[in-house]
Amino acid sequence: MQKEVTAFAPASVTNVGCGFDVLGFALDDPGDEVVVRLNGHKGLAIKNITGDNGMISREIEKNTAGRAASSFVNEIGFKEGIEIEIHKKMGLGTGLGSSAASAVAAVVALDALLETKFDKRTLMKFALEGEKLTCGGRMHADNVAACLYGGFIIARSVDELDIINIDYPDDLYCTILYPHIVMDTSDMRRILKKDISLADGVRQWGNIAAMVAGLMKKDYKLISRSLKDYIIEPVRSALIPGFNEIKNAALDNGALGCSISGSGPSIFALSRSGNNAEKIAGAMQNAANKLGVENEAFISGINKAGPRIISKNF
Ligand code: HSE
Repeated sequence: MQKEVTAFAPASVTNVGCGFDVLGFALDDPGDEVVVRLNGHKGLAIKNITGDNGMISREIEKNTAGRAASSFVNEIGFKEGIEIEIHKKMGLGTGLGSSAASAVAAVVALDALLETKFDKRTLMKFALEGEKLTCGGRMHADNVAACLYGGFIIARSVDELDIINIDYPDDLYCTILYPHIVMDTSDMRRILKKDISLADGVRQWGNIAAMVAGLMKKDYKLISRSLKDYIIEPVRSALIPGFNEIKNAALDNGALGCSISGSGPSIFALSRSGNNAEKIAGAMQNAANKLGVENEAFISGINKAGPRIISKNF
């Protein structure tokens, strides 16, 4: 049997309301799986993709996991054949960082297969090469960082690859409501205003700073007061059917805060305890169902560990 490794990398919620492109956290579930296998040929090839309904390119340089893998092997000058299988476990264009999860799973699997023992910062550099394919302009590192580092992160700078893990309350849970529409990240970035007023800036960075403090101090009221987005949510939420009703249902049922996950359309709510998260999921689904918005809801804890190796054959 040829040497092979399978890795899992988690979905992520980014922006977290106020922190466009800088705040994010990883979910326990779902996540993508990538298998990398030595095949005795030359170069990289994508052998199989499941769970994408044929929507994702099988060409190495046009696929996020493929591009991340090629940047990895080029860096170390590895020329032997490696085949890649990608198993997508979440919808595409959901706002849950699926492309980042595949790119991270690919580089984590390669690191184990080739026993390179790269640090996270180096793996991040490779994964970001893949993520570039989805950005449509200025690079953002929040999904890759949350997925690769696990827990709650601040992506302070993409240029400097400065990622900071911050502490957060252990009983923090996330409810996700995924309305069944697809939103393309690059389109969702293109519609944003290019300039903001100083007044909006001040309100927004006040919230980011307070949210980080609230998480680290485990101050739920402060988290709740700061999970507000005056800049991005008003623009994008207009494209998510039932957004205001679904958000209000979450807040009326005890959510600490609620906003768009990444570039949408998924809507996330934070709460204290799994029971609260379940109740909020029911309320968000009721609101969506009443409006005839097809949806699914799930809850997850925050994933502290980030990606993991599922199996290794060698
Ligand atoms: N921060 C990015 C955005 C995440 O909101 O566009 C994309 O999933």
